Amino acid sequence: MQQAELTSKQFDDFSTIIADRLGIKMPATKRTMLQSRLLRRSRELGLEDVHAYHERFFSDPEVQQEELEHLLNLATTNKTDFFREPDHFEFLAQQALPAWRARSPGGPFRVWCAGCATGEEAYTLSMVLMEQQLRGSFDFTILATDVSTRVLEKAMAATYDEEHASPIPLTLRKKYLLRSRDPSVGLVKIAPRSAPTYALVISIFSPKTTEFAPNSMSFFFAMS
Ligand SMILES: C[S@@+](CC[C@H](N)C(=O)[O-])C[C@H]1O[C@@H](n2cnc3c(N)ncnc32)[C@H](O)[C@@H]1O
Repeated sequence: MQQAELTSKQFDDFSTIIADRLGIKMPATKRTMLQSRLLRRSRELGLEDVHAYHERFFSDPEVQQEELEHLLNLATTNKTDFFREPDHFEFLAQQALPAWRARSPGGPFRVWCAGCATGEEAYTLSMVLMEQQLRGSFDFTILATDVSTRVLEKAMAATYDEEHASPIPLTLRKKYLLRSRDPSVGLVKIAPRSAPTYALVISIFSPKTTEFAPNSMSFFFAMS
């Protein structure tokens, strides 16, 4: 069956609201991607096609406000991994952190993971920094934020498929991951520790205001 396509005007309407309200650019090259994600959302709502979704979205400001979170979730691409771009973590451990410690021996090392997606980057940072703590005492904080509530829920759950955690070196997996009691489940969880020396805060961040949104969720994940 031929699927209804977004008209140019409908695409412009969505891309404009995504840019204005969410700060995310949606160029014409992303039209097919946006269309297929909108179609999925339309079906979840029991609507026939993306035209019906457009009509529903733009005809009632209350519906639009409620639907905005879904639009945001589908407008973002959340590809991530543990130790994605490993050179960056090497640079952090070998160069950035020592340089910072030479300049600021006392203060906490603060990291902002601005688009943290499902949390892998923030947890990688925490493992790398905890390993560095073994070489000399210092405090650190990691602030992990994302505009998408859907990915933040997963980040806060801190639970991943065992296979997905395979980029984490074995020595770190043994120290910082908990395996599910039933091995057939195949899940691992980032291990919380007592005696917190840092807090990982995961919040919904509003790119327009540079303030945390009033409905921000916060999650403090303490590790020693
Ligand atoms: C491709 S993922 C990258 C995740 C992680 N930083 C990494 O490199 O592995 C980009 C993430 O940034 C988020 N994002 C996009 N624009 C954002 C904004 N203005 N403020 C906060 N997060 C944003 C998206 O929701 C998405 O989860």
